Amino acid sequence: MFRLVHTPAIFALFGTTLGALFTDPSQLKQTTYDFVVIGAGTAGNVVATRLTENPSVKVLVIEAGVSDTGFDSDLIRIPFLCGQTAINTPFDWNYTTVPQKALNNQVLPYYRGFVLGGSSSTNYLAWTRGSPDDYNRFANVTGDSSYAWDNILTYFKKSEHHATPEDGRNDTGEYIPSVHGFKGPVAFSVTGNLSNIDDRVLATTQELSDQFPFNQDTNSGNLLGIGWQQNSLGNGSRSSSSAAYLTPVLNTRANLDVLIQTRVTRLVTTGTSNGVPEFKSVEVAQTSTGPRFTFKANNEIILSAGAIGSPQILMLSGIGDPAELAKVGVNSTVSLPEVGKNLQDHPIVSTQWVVPDDAPTRDIYTLGEDPAAVSAGLAQWHANHTGIYANVLGNHMGFFRLPQNSSILAQFGDQSAGPGSAHYELAWVSGFMSVSQPFPTSGRYFSNINVVNSPTSRGSVVLNSSDPFTAPLIDPNFFDTDFDLQVMIEAIKAAVRFASAKVWDGYILHPYADLATALAPNATDADIVTYIRRWTGSIKHPMSTAAANGAEGKGVVGADLTVKNISGVRIVDGSVFPFIPSAHPQAGIYGVAEVASDKIKAAYHL
Ligand SMILES: Cc1cc2nc3c(=O)[nH]c(=O)nc-3n(C[C@H](O)[C@H](O)[C@H](O)COP(=O)(O)OP(=O)(O)OC[C@H]3O[C@@H](n4cnc5c(N)ncnc54)[C@H](O)[C@@H]3O)c2cc1C
Ligand SMILES: *[C@@H]1O[C@H](CO)[C@@H](O)[C@H](O)[C@H]1NC(C)=O
Ligand SMILES: *[C@@H]1O[C@H](CO)[C@@H](O)[C@H](O)[C@H]1NC(C)=O
Ligand SMILES: *[C@@H]1O[C@H](CO)[C@@H](O)[C@H](O)[C@H]1NC(C)=O
Ligand SMILES: *[C@@H]1O[C@H](CO)[C@@H](O)[C@H](O)[C@H]1NC(C)=O
Ligand SMILES: *[C@@H]1O[C@H](CO)[C@@H](O)[C@H](O)[C@H]1NC(C)=O
Ligand SMILES: *[C@@H]1O[C@H](CO)[C@@H](O)[C@H](O)[C@H]1NC(C)=O
Ligand SMILES: *[C@@H]1O[C@H](CO)[C@@H](O)[C@H](O)[C@H]1NC(C)=O
Ligand SMILES: *[C@@H]1O[C@H](CO)[C@@H](O)[C@H](O)[C@H]1NC(C)=O
Ligand SMILES: *[C@@H]1O[C@H](CO)[C@@H](O)[C@H](O)[C@H]1NC(C)=O
Ligand SMILES: *[C@@H]1O[C@H](CO)[C@@H](O)[C@H](O)[C@H]1NC(C)=O
Ligand SMILES: *[C@@H]1O[C@H](CO)[C@@H](O)[C@H](O)[C@H]1NC(C)=O
Repeated sequence: MFRLVHTPAIFALFGTTLGALFTDPSQLKQTTYDFVVIGAGTAGNVVATRLTENPSVKVLVIEAGVSDTGFDSDLIRIPFLCGQTAINTPFDWNYTTVPQKALNNQVLPYYRGFVLGGSSSTNYLAWTRGSPDDYNRFANVTGDSSYAWDNILTYFKKSEHHATPEDGRNDTGEYIPSVHGFKGPVAFSVTGNLSNIDDRVLATTQELSDQFPFNQDTNSGNLLGIGWQQNSLGNGSRSSSSAAYLTPVLNTRANLDVLIQTRVTRLVTTGTSNGVPEFKSVEVAQTSTGPRFTFKANNEIILSAGAIGSPQILMLSGIGDPAELAKVGVNSTVSLPEVGKNLQDHPIVSTQWVVPDDAPTRDIYTLGEDPAAVSAGLAQWHANHTGIYANVLGNHMGFFRLPQNSSILAQFGDQSAGPGSAHYELAWVSGFMSVSQPFPTSGRYFSNINVVNSPTSRGSVVLNSSDPFTAPLIDPNFFDTDFDLQVMIEAIKAAVRFASAKVWDGYILHPYADLATALAPNATDADIVTYIRRWTGSIKHPMSTAAANGAEGKGVVGADLTVKNISGVRIVDGSVFPFIPSAHPQAGIYGVAEVASDKIKAAYHL
């Protein structure tokens, strides 16, 4: 399906004079900092960069993964390669899920970034905030209005800047400038390479405007409807948290040290504070049996290892459910039973249709039939960062609710964060697109992705071993609830209605492969369910495994994101969201990390 592209690696000359990037713990000249940030991922780089704006604050960032500028790093930079950035590359943790009982016991791949920038270096770049309800619910559960939409909006703007599409198109009318930032680190832009289906997608929003209305900017606070997809992309390249926040300051700030290829194996107790155990020290190692080193934070440890890594590190430190920890031989230090619980993720399934053989779809670049087109496209990207490779896979996406008279709502209740939140998402690609199906080697296709955006199923991350170098057991528990399954059925039916608009006549020919069975005239919902159980995958949005909760005795962190019942540790990453937002989470994680950075500065008068 995809070919790996090897181009000359460009090695940055880090560490020559200022020495801010280190690859071995023994290289560091000091062992005590003001803050130690665990994980140079999406959120970790925001916190590290904001805290070191003050030259007197010394920060060490410890990252398990590799540099994003070495071998194969074009896979990170070139947006159109995003579908292959994680698969069998040096940039991924290579996790898999436990067998998914609602998916015929399939074990699913579960990608997470293992590189500077974390998952923002390996994701699909979609830049969506979610609905105001999502953030107002976050504020409600924590009792802290700084997460409410009207307040966090300032921080969304602070994190981003609008970038011009690579094709030089005038993008007026394709986003709403007033709801966006123009000076923040992350570049976002709408497509820089129009596709042959864009006009038809937009025409469908006219023809079926009741069901599929056009929305000039789904990030505006009005999530619902179909808009131009915004991506974390500028100047033709991926704008990761490393490219946007960390790298620009790495060699210029003497108060910022970054140690890569080094794993935090546990938090270490440093006494007690306010009557609870204090953990202001971290233990690190480069291999399972290699030497251990420790680093200490005068102020606090910021845990930004993501929705899998953060609960894993807490549990390895004896912080979690004592009975579960005992099963793998970890001595409990603090009982905090919700660590690793409440995992939420968005299930995704693709539906594809066959289109005419002469349709100018993006398949020539992805199915392996036309190596010359691939070479020419890559050459153009290298020449001036334009063309198809400067773009992601799709150009439009939409967010939708079940109709008010839906029997699903009557049976289960609304389950989303509120009336402005989406139950499901659809997005369109001119070409074959799937996270689970083998790619065909020929043909031309139209793909629709279907996503459950307000799922109620909750899974877990549990230790499988006391060895920090052994993966934990990851269970997104897809379709544990019938609500989620029913919403996915409705999403697929909506995709079919979309594809049935008159504007697609003569273009969409027939469903691809076993989608034909699910959509046959005599088929029932049971046939759609068979398709869902066979082909659902993860969109790779694990969240909420160290959830924030303002109530006594609930959650893992409080409103200020400090870990409950211990002292010295704050969590800043996707794991603290009490509920998964009803959209792709990275923009929301940047926003929360910006809010948290200001909270930390305020707490230490920085
Ligand atoms: C393939 C893929 C596609 C996606 N597509 C999109 C998309 O299009 N749009 C979107 O919004 N979201 C997308 N996501 C999700 C999004 O990228 C993540 O939700 C987000 O980046 C998570 O941010 P984080 O800070 O919580 O964690 P991460 O960015 O994953 O950062 C965690 C960091 O901690 C490091 N770490 C973990 N354990 C340790 C340890 N023990 N010691 C030291 N370091 C450690 C990791 O290596 C990593 O660098 C996608 C994710 C993937 C993987
Ligand atoms: C994942 O596998 C790739 C090779 O397929 C490897 O380069 C990488 O180091 C692995 N990741 C981890 C965390 O071991
Ligand atoms: C949370 O929502 C409930 C119900 O809408 C409301 O009564 C309560 O005051 C809210 N709490 C906060 C802290 O906003
Ligand atoms: C883009 O188009 C808008 C409206 O048509 C116009 O006002 C604006 O000046 C144009 N911008 C540029 C840079 O041409
Ligand atoms: C757990 O505690 C017991 C008793 O205090 C001790 O003997 C053992 O070494 C500890 N195990 C680990 C893994 O620390
Ligand atoms: C970029 O390079 C391609 C081919 O290398 C060329 O056709 C195109 O005109 C260039 N575009 C710009 C904006 O320079
Ligand atoms: C944009 O990319 C080009 C290469 O095409 C590079 O020369 C230029 O410096 C980049 N600009 C910015 C602002 O990064
Ligand atoms: C889109 O990309 C293709 C392939 O790189 C290129 O031929 C085409 O000109 C691009 N279209 C636009 C509008 O830039
Ligand atoms: C819901 O209402 C629409 C029209 O408003 C109607 O077409 C549809 O059949 C109704 N669905 C149910 C389940 O009642
Ligand atoms: C969990 O650990 C057991 C025992 O060490 C091992 O057999 C199993 O493969 C592990 N499970 C996963 C999903 O890694
Ligand atoms: C639907 O009809 C086809 C023949 O047209 C048949 O093969 C299939 O078994 C039928 N499916 C059901 C669910 O009746
Ligand atoms: C914190 O500890 C107290 C007292 O041991 C306990 O009642 C409470 O449930 C704990 N908090 C959480 C979030 O587990």
